[in-house]
Amino acid sequence: MARRFFVAGNWKMNNTIEQSVNLVNSLQKEMRDMHKVDIMVAPPFTAIKSVYDALSSSSIQVGAQDVFWEESGAYTGEVSPMMLKDAGCKWAIIGHSERRQYFGETDDTVNRKMKAALAAGLKAIVCVGETLEERDAGKAFDVLDRQVAGALAGLGKEDMDKIVIAYEPVWAIGTGRNATPQQADEAHAKIRARVGELFGSKTPETMRVLYGGSMKPANALELLKCENVDGGLIGGASLKTAEFAAIIRAAIEAS
Ligand code: PGA
Repeated sequence: MARRFFVAGNWKMNNTIEQSVNLVNSLQKEMRDMHKVDIMVAPPFTAIKSVYDALSSSSIQVGAQDVFWEESGAYTGEVSPMMLKDAGCKWAIIGHSERRQYFGETDDTVNRKMKAALAAGLKAIVCVGETLEERDAGKAFDVLDRQVAGALAGLGKEDMDKIVIAYEPVWAIGTGRNATPQQADEAHAKIRARVGELFGSKTPETMRVLYGGSMKPANALELLKCENVDGGLIGGASLKTAEFAAIIRAAIEAS
């Protein structure tokens, strides 16, 4: 079954409001045929609304880099799913490895965020991926099994068309070192198989699995040509119009 390619930009803690708006404006000028694939950008919270407004006549969607699981209340510093929707978000990235590494995110908190995001009508990109030590110890697939099952615990088959999984080997994020197409394809197949065990064999046929970890114009096409790679979650290269556009073009070519 053909899955529509999805290219998502995770801007991380970069860009003022003005820089954010300039970035999406230049992207819109650079590319006229972007509707051939799904595209999302995740600015910092402070720029979400301005980016959403700047994209009002575009097919590019807006997402958040994180979300909290409660609807409202005394949770200083947190942002609820409804607030993100209100600002224009269609998506939330959940469980990014930087959140797991630096901010105490666990499989349980990832799962709570998934449930809250979906309940509020957001779609989710959930990130999974092993560290270098885990890979070297031969445990990469165990980690993926655990993280996928943890993130999706308690969700139903009907939720799965609102979920995209991003495979992000931690050793490839921001390091300039990317997984080989074969390593990415194997890991994506493993993730698909796990989802099949949890939700039945039809679900992984339509579910998209993105690759994240130093995807760039130079390696995008060979990664995107892999049978099990349905797009990318792009960090560094999504901050530069020419590079992000080149990756989108690679996705159009691979479609
Ligand atoms: P990178 O980041 O492309 O800069 O490696 C990917 C990510 O963390 O989503």
